[in-house]
Amino acid sequence: MTSPSPSPPEQPTDQYAIENGFVKIDSVHLKLAQPYSAPGQWIGQHEVLMQLLACWITVDDADLPLTPRLVGSPGVGKTQLAIAAAQAHGRPLYIYQCTSDTRPEDLLITPVLSQGGEIAYHASPLVSAMVTGGICLLDEGNRMNEKSWASLAPLFDGRRLVESIVAGVTIHASKNFRSAVTMNQDESTFEIPDYILSRLQPTLGVGFPNKQDEMAILQYHLPFAEPEMLAMTVEFLQRSHQLKLDFSLRDGINLLRFALKRMIQDPDHPIGRDDAWQEALEKCLGEDAVDLEQLAQRRRRTLGGDAVPLGLADLFFDADDPMHPDRDDDEEDDESDF
Ligand SMILES: Nc1ncnc2c1ncn2[C@@H]1O[C@H](COP(=O)(O)OP(=O)(O)O)[C@@H](O)[C@H]1O
Ligand SMILES: [Mg+2]
Repeated sequence: MTSPSPSPPEQPTDQYAIENGFVKIDSVHLKLAQPYSAPGQWIGQHEVLMQLLACWITVDDADLPLTPRLVGSPGVGKTQLAIAAAQAHGRPLYIYQCTSDTRPEDLLITPVLSQGGEIAYHASPLVSAMVTGGICLLDEGNRMNEKSWASLAPLFDGRRLVESIVAGVTIHASKNFRSAVTMNQDESTFEIPDYILSRLQPTLGVGFPNKQDEMAILQYHLPFAEPEMLAMTVEFLQRSHQLKLDFSLRDGINLLRFALKRMIQDPDHPIGRDDAWQEALEKCLGEDAVDLEQLAQRRRRTLGGDAVPLGLADLFFDADDPMHPDRDDDEEDDESDF
């Protein structure tokens, strides 16, 4: 006779009964969200795609998948990377767009008044991914405040569960559930507390593509654009990456779309390619984008430590001008005395 063993910890269940887009959990019926279905191809930067896919592998029954952070400038391809990875992983993808007013319950279950006057419970994309064994992308996660993140703490550690107060249920993630979070590196975001960040590992940086990849990406999205227009845009984007400005693929795609529309608009008075491109540049990315070098210089002056007060010479010479009397390439000597 074996002595009675303690009951095993509750296993993550894959046995929620799903029927016609509904799932029943502890006698509560939840309407599931629709997975994201558009195609998403990832071009170039193979390594980061492999790193993301590795996070979702389990090497043993006792192993747990990881939830990585995808970080990078806006428009660099973080969301696209997650979409492509979900396709490669072969499970449905659910995207939750995080915002600064996302409340904890929005992430889980929302009560909705149905036609018959009854309360219907709608599962968020996150909960839908948890019960169907899909992938959840929390997009732009650092727009969300700490309170909402706190409700996800038990999901991203060994417990793999969430508790909905509104519906009064505990939901266990399926064994197949996977997730990732994208985070923009810009100012309009919240600091995420360390106890959450420590659950969102590893950090995978998405950088700007090289010239060849950038061309291939633009060609993929705009196969109808003339090669010259694509080349002008790639030149512009590559220069902007070199100057550490954050004009992105998204900017390039938008500007090309607008230029192409302007060129085709009036067959009697067609706008020339260069004019249409310049106009689109200004209208989509702002007047500053017309002179990248000057923009980069201004950024350096406001962001960098070399915010030297303007002297008389600055009125007559650009900071980079070899004729500038105060021009000095050596940063250590920046403290000029007046
Ligand atoms: N490597 C890539 N392959 C294909 N398309 C890409 C790639 N990188 C960026 N894109 C495209 O560039 C645009 C911006 O990408 P997105 O993923 O929305 O950026 P982010 O989420 O970083 O702000 C999208 O239209 C996306 O399809
Ligand atoms: Mg995005």
